Parts: sequence; structure tokens; C-alpha cells
Amino acid sequence: MAPMRVLVIGSGAREHALLMALRNDPKVEHLVIAPGNAGTAAVAEQREVDITSGPAVAALARDVAADLVVIGPEVPLVLGVADAVRAAGIACFGPSRDAARIEGSKAFAKDVMAAAGVRTARSEIVDSPADLDAALSRFGPDAGEAAWVVKDDGLAAGKGVVVTPDRAAARAHAAGLLDAGHPVLLESFLDGPELSLFCVVDGDTVVPLLPAQDFKRVGDGDAGPNTGGMGAYAPLPWLSREAAAGIVADIVKPVAAELVRRGSRFAGLLYAGVAMTSTGPAVVEFNCRFGDPETQAVLALLESPLGQLLHAAATGGLSEFGALRWRDSSAVTVVLAAENYPGRPRVGDVIVGAEGEAVLHAGTVLREDGAVVSSGGRVLSVVGVGDDLAAARAAAYRTLGSIRLPGSHFRTDIGLAAAEDKIRI
Ligand code: GLY
Repeated sequence: MAPMRVLVIGSGAREHALLMALRNDPKVEHLVIAPGNAGTAAVAEQREVDITSGPAVAALARDVAADLVVIGPEVPLVLGVADAVRAAGIACFGPSRDAARIEGSKAFAKDVMAAAGVRTARSEIVDSPADLDAALSRFGPDAGEAAWVVKDDGLAAGKGVVVTPDRAAARAHAAGLLDAGHPVLLESFLDGPELSLFCVVDGDTVVPLLPAQDFKRVGDGDAGPNTGGMGAYAPLPWLSREAAAGIVADIVKPVAAELVRRGSRFAGLLYAGVAMTSTGPAVVEFNCRFGDPETQAVLALLESPLGQLLHAAATGGLSEFGALRWRDSSAVTVVLAAENYPGRPRVGDVIVGAEGEAVLHAGTVLREDGAVVSSGGRVLSVVGVGDDLAAARAAAYRTLGSIRLPGSHFRTDIGLAAAEDKIRI
């Protein structure tokens, strides 16, 4: 295969992790990131682009002579940016607008899962305040379940979800979404530990990556509101190989096949969020892209060449790619968040100690004087790798200990329950 020039779209720690893994692929000769952040500027040519504009991304891909475009976030995918890149004759890793509805439209995802015979939470969409109270009575403790699960029916970067046993809190969240003109999705509560399984997919061909678990609540012990993700680890010592293979066979493959059957063929990264319930695995959600922050942990363990893998998926060669190779280690990533995140974050502070390959950047910018300054809620994602989870945790928290950002916070328990063998299915 000829050397590749790769353009990555996005600006988070997920995209920084993609760049670090792509950089290890001997066939990747040049990396471009748009728009990127202060950390990605050190490993790739940095360009400006409106990531929501298909014509703009396609024009940039032509300008930098990209052989492959990798689209990180869901918003451009749901808007059809991958279609525009492919229409310009450039290989693109990321699903079409049509297939990205698996994340962008919860109603579409539920319909696909029903047709594929895949277990998922019972759900109802509420789009009128007049229907809310009666609908709430059909879920949560009123229906014998542990909690209400109230979601924004659109894209909400993980922050549109409230899971609570308190009817007033569930109602307030739903009413707030309806007031803002967003339909509400009520779902039955799925018990059991959750996991994220990323699969590289091209039509019917499904290649799973290592399973991971993320931590969505802001505080230790899963306290406080949901965030975009405060940390993750991989692989999962509590999930057998057979159980992971079962999720691929019974959940991901049937959904990929159903998407092909209905003419919405998926090519890209299909992310299954799965709850290992007392009655078997059930889907919490599907996403149409790499998860953040799980990607930071998963890719730290990948030995196979990522550029060649994504190029194969984008050009019809995935079925010939062969089995993936992984480091026989564990990885943990811990997010350093700005003061007040997930509310309106404090920004503009100088960060000290954010250098090195273990520190992936998200909400950072380079100031004119060269200082690295915070510019978003999730600021950094620190990665530790070790022989086991305890060693990986120790490595991640050691690195975090040397970083200074006024008012910042992080969870201290990422991967802890798994390291102490306290997770049971
Ligand atoms: N880890 C959650 C997400 O990427 O949506």
C-alpha cells in the first residue's frame, strides 16, 4: 500500500488519540487535523475548517491532498459531511448521513433494533407537555423500575440524560427539554454494568475493538450530573471473551445487517453502548463514531496499524484486513475538567505540565506567547498504561498529579471497582 496523507476532523482528546495511533502506522506519512487544539498542533499540521460544512471539509481534504479523511464527532456525520468527502472522490472513514441516523435519531435506532431482533430499553417519545405526566407514570418507580431515564431525543453530547428515582427531578428535566423545543425520550431502566463496544464496520463486515467502560457522572461514586465522560478503561476484566463475542454476534452484526437490508449501509465506527442486565445484554444506545473518552484508552492498546485499518474500512477492504493485534496490558484515561464543568466552565487559565505523550488535549488553545490555555469543559485526558488495571490507574494518576490548572477537578475512581474485582454481571 502507498504512503497515506490523513486528515482528521475534530478537536477533542478523542481526535488527539486518533492522531497518536495514526502516527504509529508506518503507512501514514503526513497528518493534518482540523480544527484541532493546542496538543494536536504538536503532532499534525493544523488547519481551520467549519466541521459542519461538507463542501468546506471536502475542499480542505483536496487542498491537503488527503488520501483518507477520518471524521471524529457525530455532528458532521449526522449532517452528511462524510457523503460530501466521498462525493469529492476521497476515501472517508465515517458513515453516510443516512446511516448516521443510528445516533442522530433515536426513533430510527429503535426501529432498526426492533427489526434486527436486538434487545433494548422500552421507550416512548414525548413531544407535548400535555402528555408528560401520563407517560412518566408508565416508567421508573411508578412502573416498578429503579429509576426514570429521561433523554433529549436529539444530539446532546451525553449531557441530555437524567437517570433518577425522583419523579420531580425526572419531570423537571423532561419539562425543560420540552420548553426548549426538544422531544423527550423516556426509557425503561436497564440494570447491570454498562460497557462500550466499538466496532469498525463496512456493511456486513464487523471488526470489534477491545471493550471499554466509561464514567459519565461528574463525581466519584457516580455522584452528580452526567457529563460528556470523565474517564474510561479497557479492556474489561469482568467481561469474558465469549460475552464480548456474544455482543458482536447478537447485537452489532444483526444491526449492521439490518442497516444494509434497509439501504442505510454503515461504513465507519459503530459504537454499541450495552448494559449487561440480569436478563442478558441490552442496548442503551448506538453511536456512529468513536466514543470519548473510551477511545483514549482503547487506542493506547492497539498494535495493528490504525491508518491501514480505517482505510480498509473506507475502501471496501475490511473483510481482508485480518485479526487485530493488541498490547497485553490495561489502559486507563482520566479527564481533567475545568472548574464548574459540566455547567458553564471556567476558561482562559494557563495549564502547567500538559506536555508528553500521556496527555491528550481537548479544551485547550495555544496563546500567542506560547502558553497552553484552557478553552472548554473537558480540558485534558490523561492516559496510563500498565500490566494490569491497578498499574494503569497508578500511571494515569501519577501524570495527573504533575498538571496544574486552577479550579480543575477529576474523578479519583476511574477503573477502581474493576481493579478491585467488584463488578459482577
Ligand atoms: N463515551 C460516551 C460517548 O462518547 O458518547
